[in-house]
Amino acid sequence: MDALFIFIEQIIHSMLQEITTLRSQIETELPAVTSAELLDQFRLRHLVKKGTLTGLMERLREVPKEDKPIVGKALNELRQFVELEFTRLKDSFDSSQAATKLIDVTLPGRREKRGSVHPVQQTLDGILSVFRKMGFSVAEAADLEDDYHNFEALNFAPDHPARDMQDTFFIKDERSDLLLRTHTSSVQIRMMQSQAPPIRSVMPGRVYRNEAVSARSLAEFHQVEGLCIDKNVTFAELKGTIITFAKEMYGANSKFRFRPSYFPFTEPSAEVDISCYLCSGKGCRICKYSGWLEICGCGMVHPNVLKNCNIDPEVYSGYAFGFGIERVTMLRTGIDDIRLLYENDVRVLEQF
Ligand code: DAH
Repeated sequence: MDALFIFIEQIIHSMLQEITTLRSQIETELPAVTSAELLDQFRLRHLVKKGTLTGLMERLREVPKEDKPIVGKALNELRQFVELEFTRLKDSFDSSQAATKLIDVTLPGRREKRGSVHPVQQTLDGILSVFRKMGFSVAEAADLEDDYHNFEALNFAPDHPARDMQDTFFIKDERSDLLLRTHTSSVQIRMMQSQAPPIRSVMPGRVYRNEAVSARSLAEFHQVEGLCIDKNVTFAELKGTIITFAKEMYGANSKFRFRPSYFPFTEPSAEVDISCYLCSGKGCRICKYSGWLEICGCGMVHPNVLKNCNIDPEVYSGYAFGFGIERVTMLRTGIDDIRLLYENDVRVLEQF
């Protein structure tokens, strides 16, 4: 009986001893906890499930029932002490962190840089809005085309020299007829194949040509195609549409001229010139001293093209036109090197 009593006495004594030792150990540790990081290490040492405090708590089981209150009380006091110290330090680190984050309201503000709509997109938006007002719908198709839609259906014969007018990027594929469209005229064909007349549409999109990049040309640029198919459509209507559009875009005082031209998909064909914006027709470097700048190609849709799309040329007629969006942008802004539009130099772009 005595031996057991002494043994239990020893347990209580050693536990109380350990509690005191741990407390003094923690008290010496505390002054060194000088940062949030060190505080976290402190928490991991003492306050987690496998920490020192829980370790001692678990040993409370070994203490006989009647002595539990004494040891339990000592343990609780230690726990409260550690938790209080932990909270105190945490609060002090949190508030010092908040203090370093304080905003200095006397500093001058930093302006957010604002983006803007790219000049080419602005031009396209303007073009589409003018045509929408004239009753045209807007349609698009994929950049990847086949020979049929880009050339054949547009009345380019297989050995037609006009194919050489447009150096083409062909796609390496099992199908040898895949290419990047050289013009948006291919979308005309898709339009006529998918919709019965009357048709009155503009078709914007990206086009590709294997050309050397220079101040005047890019290998990748944008066009807008126009197509109108109905009964009794005349060349006069084509002229009226283009002049109305061009006056809206370039100003009511601009002068225009239609010059006979050639495209396999239109007959008759024409090119439209605008009086030079820089010299007003007197002749300068920009217009190569001619006084005129070319703005678009157009014509009456060739009967063969209508037939290729199952439209009877005896019943329907129509006109088509096409122009480059970058070119319109250059005329509109006075930018005289097309490459400037895609160098994405903010100093250029922010002017428009
Ligand atoms: N597709 C021609 C080109 O890329 C432009 C063009 C000319 C389109 C006459 C037309 C047209 O619809 O009728 O140069």
